[in-house]
Amino acid sequence: MSVEINSTTKSIRERIGEFVPETGIILGSGLGALANEIEEQLVIPYEQIPHFPQSTVKGHSGQLIFGKMGGRKVVAMQGRFHFYEGYSMQQITFPVRVMKALGIKHLFVSNAAGGMNPGFRVGELMIINDHINLFPTNPLIGKNDDALGPRFVDMGEAYSKRLISLAEGAAAANGIEVSQGVYAGLTGPCFETPAEYRYLWRIGADAVGMSTVPEVIVAKHSGLEVFGMSIITDLGVEGHVEKVSHEDVLRVANAQEKKLTVIMKEVISKC
Ligand code: HPA
Repeated sequence: MSVEINSTTKSIRERIGEFVPETGIILGSGLGALANEIEEQLVIPYEQIPHFPQSTVKGHSGQLIFGKMGGRKVVAMQGRFHFYEGYSMQQITFPVRVMKALGIKHLFVSNAAGGMNPGFRVGELMIINDHINLFPTNPLIGKNDDALGPRFVDMGEAYSKRLISLAEGAAAANGIEVSQGVYAGLTGPCFETPAEYRYLWRIGADAVGMSTVPEVIVAKHSGLEVFGMSIITDLGVEGHVEKVSHEDVLRVANAQEKKLTVIMKEVISKC
């Protein structure tokens, strides 16, 4: 894998020159507008990046955006890759490897998620404080490349307490309500049955989605500090499970993303 990482990194460096991003950002479904806040943009479409998979989902446009946000140098992925698209865990997480090789120290992730916590409302902003990997596999399975990270990865603080505390401060300072919770990641592409939502709540998850967990595992393997936020776009709360579509998810995510952007921008400026 190192060979591909090196060749992709080299090709990107030819475009960005001396620019060294400090923070990587992965934008979830309906959450691509955060990228509008990036100043002095240099955009590279995924199809121009060697070894990058192509995004196949509506709401994920598929480009890397380099520039400045909150006074910091960032690289944002507008459009991510999902296991349900048929990619391997290694393909999904390849961009994290590349962003690490380009120099990032922190990874910020956002996603749209279903909420099981009965205290949640549609549109809720949830700071992810932990996750449960319910994918049938793990991106670190296979021969370990010690140059990329250790064989066995500590996941005791997958989501940085320091960054969570900065985010709580940013939310309070801007009058934005946020909660915290555990994100369960599973394959999709089906949304959950009522029994599955009930099960996810019982095993300790507050929210569920089809992404994020693979990227965060690889980020921790790479030694990155991680911050994540979910927008709760629909509810899987017993007695309140309503029909959900991808369009509903995008609509709610779009409506709430300004608030998420304010928080992320402030945390990025301080991290
Ligand atoms: N389940 C899984 N993924 C999701 C959901 C959900 O309810 N909402 C948005 N992404």
